Amino acid sequence: MQTVLVTGGAGYIGSHVVSQLLADDYRVVVVDNVERGHFLSLPDKAEFYKLDINNTSELEWILNHHRVGLVMHFASYAYVGESFKHAFSYWNNNVAGTLSLIEAMLKAGVCNMIFSSTCATYGNHSELITEDTPQIPINPYGQTKLAIEQMLRSMAISKHQMAIVALRYFNAAGCDDMRGLGEDHRPETHLIPCVLRSIYNQEENFPVYGSDYNTPDGSCVRDYTHVVDLAMAHLQAVLVLRRGKFKAYNLGTGKGVSVFDVIKACEEVTGKEVSWKLANRREGDPDSLMASNRLAELELGWIPEYTDVKEMVESTWNWMLKNPLGYKDVKVPSKRVSKEPFVRDWQEVEKKKRAAKKIKARIRINAMKRTSRLKKQHR
Ligand SMILES: NC(=O)c1ccc[n+]([C@@H]2O[C@H](COP(=O)([O-])OP(=O)(O)OC[C@H]3O[C@@H](n4cnc5c(N)ncnc54)[C@H](O)[C@@H]3O)[C@@H](O)[C@H]2O)c1
Repeated sequence: MQTVLVTGGAGYIGSHVVSQLLADDYRVVVVDNVERGHFLSLPDKAEFYKLDINNTSELEWILNHHRVGLVMHFASYAYVGESFKHAFSYWNNNVAGTLSLIEAMLKAGVCNMIFSSTCATYGNHSELITEDTPQIPINPYGQTKLAIEQMLRSMAISKHQMAIVALRYFNAAGCDDMRGLGEDHRPETHLIPCVLRSIYNQEENFPVYGSDYNTPDGSCVRDYTHVVDLAMAHLQAVLVLRRGKFKAYNLGTGKGVSVFDVIKACEEVTGKEVSWKLANRREGDPDSLMASNRLAELELGWIPEYTDVKEMVESTWNWMLKNPLGYKDVKVPSKRVSKEPFVRDWQEVEKKKRAAKKIKARIRINAMKRTSRLKKQHR
């Protein structure tokens, strides 16, 4: 499985995964309509097609032409607020788009997919969320993502026996500023870049939506996960893809960080004070959302490395200082073929294989530990 097709690879999380895949010696083909992504976030080594995933026949051609073995599917609209106003676009882009992608995959004989799902499929739950927590989404965005999961679940058990891993991200944050990658959504709705932007622009009255939630400091609590850790999880997920199986994993740290914690971290990193003011609660904002990541640890061997929110703030701030206007807007070519021919370094490949073996061993050890823990509990 050498060639990976990444849909939405010019977006925030997709571009971090593309970069990690290339570092791990995969050949990468990106399909993105660049409606919400940035061409300049893509490394030269990634082949690129400016294409909408609803274009089934072109997708099929790309899958065949590049002999793609695995699809990582990030392309999606992902704003909760917007999904209420433009529900049709969300169902059309996210669900119909994925259906088109699946059709192209079936025609090209590609059966492996890692899908970007979300904690928004769960809805409101005050306890730690496990993969078995009922999925009751409270907004159209979460509903479309749950519908896609259900669709993929049936594709796995159908005669096509697709191999699917759905990764349910909690709040992605931070960036790989060392590789020149950042977070640049337009408009930005994520808390960390929004607070930092208000500091950068010396704005006043940054709105904090509610301080009477049932949380230690009254503000909403979320589970922030470093995007570099998320990227690593995708590589680990490749190892658990199995024909005829659909598996879902939560990707979070299990650590709750409140809005006021984020503001404090931003002040500490930048050395500047945030001018904030209290605003009314937003409809549908749960008190807290936190992941249990035990399954990802046990089965993927995934242990997030950057769990301190200050590390996420720091990388975001560094990138913002270097790119105050975000990624530059450039004329996007309809296609870019990698200038650097892909040459496999076999020593590197062997190194990667050894690393994969280590991960598998870690998964086995985790499973053994778990079994003995369970045995002890039952005694
Ligand atoms: N960012 C988060 O915190 C978060 C949390 C949970 C889940 N997710 C999921 O992760 C994925 C990536 O999120 P992100 O923050 O990187 O989003 P993003 O908007 O930065 O990236 C999405 C990319 O997909 C592309 N795209 C959208 N529709 C397309 C289409 N029809 N055809 C081709 N390209 C299309 C956009 O141009 C963009 O480059 C999404 O599926 C999102 O639902 C994100």
